[in-house]
Amino acid sequence: YLAGYDKVKRDIEDTVLLALTHGDVYDKITAATRMKNETNRPKCVLFEGPPGCGKTTSAKIISQQVEIPLVYMPLEAIMSKFYGESESKLAEIFEACAAMGSVILFIDEIDSLATSREAGLHEATRRILSTLLRKIDSFESDGEVLVICATNRKKDLDPALVSRLDLSIRFELPEASTRSEIFQRYAKQLSEEELKELGELSVNLSGRDICDICKDAERKWASKYIRKEVNQIAPAIEVYLDATMARLLQIQDSNLRMDHDFRPDLIASKLRSQPVAQST
Ligand SMILES: Nc1ncnc2c1ncn2[C@@H]1O[C@H](COP(=O)(O)OP(=O)(O)OP(=O)(O)O)[C@@H](O)[C@H]1O
Ligand SMILES: [Mg+2]
Repeated sequence: YLAGYDKVKRDIEDTVLLALTHGDVYDKITAATRMKNETNRPKCVLFEGPPGCGKTTSAKIISQQVEIPLVYMPLEAIMSKFYGESESKLAEIFEACAAMGSVILFIDEIDSLATSREAGLHEATRRILSTLLRKIDSFESDGEVLVICATNRKKDLDPALVSRLDLSIRFELPEASTRSEIFQRYAKQLSEEELKELGELSVNLSGRDICDICKDAERKWASKYIRKEVNQIAPAIEVYLDATMARLLQIQDSNLRMDHDFRPDLIASKLRSQPVAQST
């Protein structure tokens, strides 16, 4: 269940889901339009965007909704584990998928095959990439396998791979209202106002960050509860605010997703429940 992201969900439904559930309609259309018997169902799609924004989750949801098994293929792991024989392993995986009939092949971290423009591709990487491209091409004719690739670095993908994508869906960092919805997903006891407050404070955080914050808050609360420092079972807003603050500071330290929206001062003043001073 992916909270928020309504546009992304609709895009996925329009493109991927309908093609999987009503493939016959797509085939009838091409039968009426094309000289040759061809298919126009999407065969290879890309999910791209920053870490923790629902790419893997969405692939799992699609697989459940259409009741087609998902084969998870973390490319980085395959490349390092089977160093030297990665292409044959890759080919084996593709063959196993084809043998399964209908299957969704989820290739995570497809940017492991990234081109570094100056240096060019490592020889082994180049062979893996060409195996992958060949396999994607050969699936086109079978019509049973949907390949979903995921990456945090679309810019680095090889042009030959990009040109084979039927479509690309972007998963952005969530905005404030979406962040509130994600908080609600993991902290249903909070009031609408509290959720709104958390959504506004958690600037630049991903869905994964929010999920982690809520787990963190629950664990802290558990120890308080066990020590009988509190008696209600569901954590109060304060622990979520604390955990959010901690996560924001952690990100600020690691200097990752910083931008002008980041306002630790605002958060700190909220935590102290003081009115925010207007700076003009
Ligand atoms: N919109 C959301 N609603 C609910 N949970 C979310 C949402 N976005 C992310 N999450 C949570 O964050 C976790 C990480 O999300 P997911 O694995 O889908 O991210 P990803 O985009 O695949 O990240 P990566 O690029 O690091 O692989 C999920 O397990 C899920 O619990
Ligand atoms: Mg993922």
